[in-house]
Amino acid sequence: MLDAMEANRSEKAFDREKIHSGNIGLEVDHGAVEIEVERLLASMTLQQKVHEIRGWQAAPIDGLYYAGGDEGLNIPAFRMVDGPRGARAGMATAFPVAIARGATFDVELERRVGLAAGLEVAAKNGNVILAPTINLLRHPGWGRAQETYSEDTFHMGAMGVSFVSGAQNHVLTSPKHFALNNLEMTRFEVSANVDERSLHEVYLPHFKRCVVEGAAASVMSAYNKVNGVYCGEHPVLLSDILREDWGFKGFVESDWFLGTRSTVAAINAGMDIEMPTGYRFDDEKITQAITDGELTEETITRNAGRALYQKVAFDLANREVPDESVVECREHIELAREVAEKSFVLLKNESVLPLTTTQSIAVVGDLADVANLGDRGSSMVTSSAVTTPLAGLRAFGNEVDLHYYASDADISNIGEFDVAVVVAGLTYKEEGEFIPTQQQESDGSDLARGGDRADLRLPESQERLIREVALTANKTIVLLEGGSAIEVSSWVNEVDALMMVWYPGREGGHAIARVLFGAVSPSGKLPVSFPQSIRQLMDWDMSALDINHDLFHGYRYLDKKAEQPEYPFGFGLSYTEFTLEGLQVERVENRFFLNVSVRNTGDTAGGAVPQLYVSYRNSVVERPVKELKGFGRVELEPGEVADLEIELGDAELCYYDPLDGWVLEACTYELRVGQASDDLPFESTWRFDGEDWLPE
Ligand code: BGC
Repeated sequence: MLDAMEANRSEKAFDREKIHSGNIGLEVDHGAVEIEVERLLASMTLQQKVHEIRGWQAAPIDGLYYAGGDEGLNIPAFRMVDGPRGARAGMATAFPVAIARGATFDVELERRVGLAAGLEVAAKNGNVILAPTINLLRHPGWGRAQETYSEDTFHMGAMGVSFVSGAQNHVLTSPKHFALNNLEMTRFEVSANVDERSLHEVYLPHFKRCVVEGAAASVMSAYNKVNGVYCGEHPVLLSDILREDWGFKGFVESDWFLGTRSTVAAINAGMDIEMPTGYRFDDEKITQAITDGELTEETITRNAGRALYQKVAFDLANREVPDESVVECREHIELAREVAEKSFVLLKNESVLPLTTTQSIAVVGDLADVANLGDRGSSMVTSSAVTTPLAGLRAFGNEVDLHYYASDADISNIGEFDVAVVVAGLTYKEEGEFIPTQQQESDGSDLARGGDRADLRLPESQERLIREVALTANKTIVLLEGGSAIEVSSWVNEVDALMMVWYPGREGGHAIARVLFGAVSPSGKLPVSFPQSIRQLMDWDMSALDINHDLFHGYRYLDKKAEQPEYPFGFGLSYTEFTLEGLQVERVENRFFLNVSVRNTGDTAGGAVPQLYVSYRNSVVERPVKELKGFGRVELEPGEVADLEIELGDAELCYYDPLDGWVLEACTYELRVGQASDDLPFESTWRFDGEDWLPE
């Protein structure tokens, strides 16, 4: 009886205290920092100040890009290290790419990734991590989609700020690329054209959250233009919005090489530090501009002060470098595996998964035997060991009867096995940061082409391989590697199971084995809609020099066009069943608290991801059919029930008016809760009459 009356276990979807604990940026004594910065500036010559606002040299030294610093004045240099999937300096833990981590919908896990990546950067003697990448995945063909978390603004903000707060226990972070950087092939020239409403509602909120809530210490500007002006010299972005509206106290550094286009315009607009070296911000150009009256010494002092501010705030002069043994330590390796396991999205399963170790298995495809960790651009991380899918399956249990077929092997006897597991997908050759190199294929060089994808299908040879296997095998399971949506409609009906495993990091193979054999249930959800065909999405031109950005892309676009995707945003299957048993909604001051009870009604443990979407009725402006406004994750044993508390502030319900700013309009708001964007069985409707909120 007592048991029955006990309240359910209750968890917060986003536990601010937990997520932000230890973030140095949030514990700064600003008054004291200001005094110290003033003291330092007063002791510096103009030349010393100019030195503070630029990088040292084009190439990194042991993975570190240096900027500023003065031994005589006891001012440390910034030592910046890429990036979004771990420390790009020597050997380090290669975590699953950010889009995979986005699929976990697990903010606490992402905080732990931030903690680990930040600690490894610090152990490499770095003090700034050039991450997270939080550019919206406007179109899944974008080459750098894998570096980012999501097509959704809210989801991006929650994941991004969790990484920031984790990493800022150890180092400064640098959310990038500010802003609207989402096309690779023309990234140095393209102008992202955007109206004010879409800018504020769709493309900036996640940056704002990292800056305002996460106190991100720096921001990297983008290569592209916004409304015709290079981001590196964009006064509205760098000064009006970032500083005046958001109160940003950190520094802006340029993206590398072509990120700073001018001396005077860039500095005056609010570009604080030129990276990786002072080409535009060199002594001569700056002195000349001051002599010509185009630049003032005060502005240089201001820039130098912004750099010094974070050096003092994070006490960089006195921080101890952690022991190198933390790099690729057991805890980080296990974390990489846990993240991978939680990131896999089971898209189809016709009674074939999980496998048992008594089944005979044919593993097919070259990618099964390849360490496929993602692109080889600036986010590449090298680990001392990587478990491929094949190695992971082989290591799972000695008793597994497993045979490997390379892509060109004779598979005529594949029907003798109980199941065939095909590993297919993309590599750094098909997508990634665009770094053209002639060495690409000859010597396996670090640098590789990457770039955007013209279409979303697999290479033809892989589609053929999947079909051939499906024709002959008893059961066919396809594992897809890649950093974004892949079009599967031409072959998916022929296979029995399909799981997106992204670029799963150094422990990917072990994670794959554990999920396939049912040691863990898959629990990832899609952070990007998988369309049936690229034709369902907006026009996609990789050579575009002007692109219009509006409120609609991803699921918002598909909803507007009433297009049914192959797999919707937020979707992912599991080996168990979760039932939402009830929704309670309370209003306290200027926010809603939604309590969702989730029960694991199946017979395996697993993670459930309740999601909150909001729809609007009688709005005076055009609104998306629905928008994600909350999500959380609960781990549940079979039969277990737990409550998830999702908080929804009124600020999330506003639209942006170019004249009035954020408007909480009098209209009807439908709060819809479920387990995927197309599965929202619970609804709570509220009308705001301009003063009061009334349940309907
Ligand atoms: C990328 C940045 C990266 C920088 C340094 C640039 O090309 O766009 O994301 O941090 O290089 O490697």
